[in-house]
Amino acid sequence: MKTQPYRITLIPGDGIGPEIIRVAVQVVEATGVPVQWEEVEAGEAALGRYGDPLPERVIDAIRRTGVALKGPLTTPVGTGYRSVNVRIRKLLDLYANVRPVVKFEGVKTPFDRVDMVIIRENTEDLYSGLEHVVVPGVVESLKVITEKASLRIARFAFDLARKWGRKKVTAVHKANIMKLSDGLFLEAIRKVEVDYPDVEYEELIVDNAAMQMVIRPERFDVVLTENLYGDILSDLAAGLVGGLGFAPSANIGDDAAVFEAVHGSAPDIAGKNIANPIAMVLSAALMLDHLGEMEAARRIRDAVAAVLKEGKVRTPDMGGTATTTEMGEAIVAHLQNARAA
Ligand code: NAI
Ligand code: MG
Repeated sequence: MKTQPYRITLIPGDGIGPEIIRVAVQVVEATGVPVQWEEVEAGEAALGRYGDPLPERVIDAIRRTGVALKGPLTTPVGTGYRSVNVRIRKLLDLYANVRPVVKFEGVKTPFDRVDMVIIRENTEDLYSGLEHVVVPGVVESLKVITEKASLRIARFAFDLARKWGRKKVTAVHKANIMKLSDGLFLEAIRKVEVDYPDVEYEELIVDNAAMQMVIRPERFDVVLTENLYGDILSDLAAGLVGGLGFAPSANIGDDAAVFEAVHGSAPDIAGKNIANPIAMVLSAALMLDHLGEMEAARRIRDAVAAVLKEGKVRTPDMGGTATTTEMGEAIVAHLQNARAA
């Protein structure tokens, strides 16, 4: 067992962030994996204190530890500062966004079998933030796709498919309309795909993919796509397994990785201790996988699965009345019982 603690940057975040991060920290500690948390402020709190929602010290801290567990950060709509989440991903070149979508027994959904991983290119596409007014009333927003980033994310997706024992990669695109940009993305994947004869490969146009996902979600295994389609499809897929409360994610680069829930700061329920902490907890499990603590990560998933299967502790998004704290306690109790057994 490791004795030197892992140093991990902790960003509590905005809205429900601090409430769910607290639970995730307790759950990680209950696994017995030694961690030294290094907490830094970003988002609204940092804006008030340092005049910048993303002070340099936050990026420095993540560069130093190489790993961060992060709560959601609010982005003002339309006006105001640029998304801090997008800035973090770009500054650290966290090019791969990995979003496992798994249906747990005990969660009410119309589908029995959903087990897919959405891999979203995280640095380009329409998220470049390159917009300008051409003349009043006319705006251009630039979609940037490069061969380099497309090859890199394709390689990542097929490597992950192999490592996680997945059978198939589905590339999702709109190359019939965006022949140059999505065409380049698809060409890059085809170049990489041939190196992985052990992994099945198919292509789907994004609108069809969206329809298939709500009719036959079980047909998807690894979904590889661009930034915008990945953003939308991963919220859609989260809806198939009980909502955003169950959707974890990892943002992975060559030098750093940031783990966070797919959902945002949920201002409508912030401060009420009713947010579902499971997405954040499952993100922490992905973090442990990344650190090589696969066994501890598995124990967390088992504990979450056990609590959900039992069905006694359910937060309001699951139709229950349990608090965030109670959900956290139930997961920790399962972990401790499993350790004692
Ligand atoms: P949201 O994901 O915060 O909330 C959407 C809906 O889902 C709300 O009704 C919310 O109450 C519910 N919800 C979300 N997480 C939940 C949880 N853990 N338990 C129970 N219910 C939950 O999306 P919204 O409202 O569009 O965005 C709010 C803010 O979050 C915005 O400023 C947005 O920019 C930011 N955001 C940040 C992200 C990040 O930090 N990576 C990702 C997405 C949004
Ligand atoms: Mg999103």
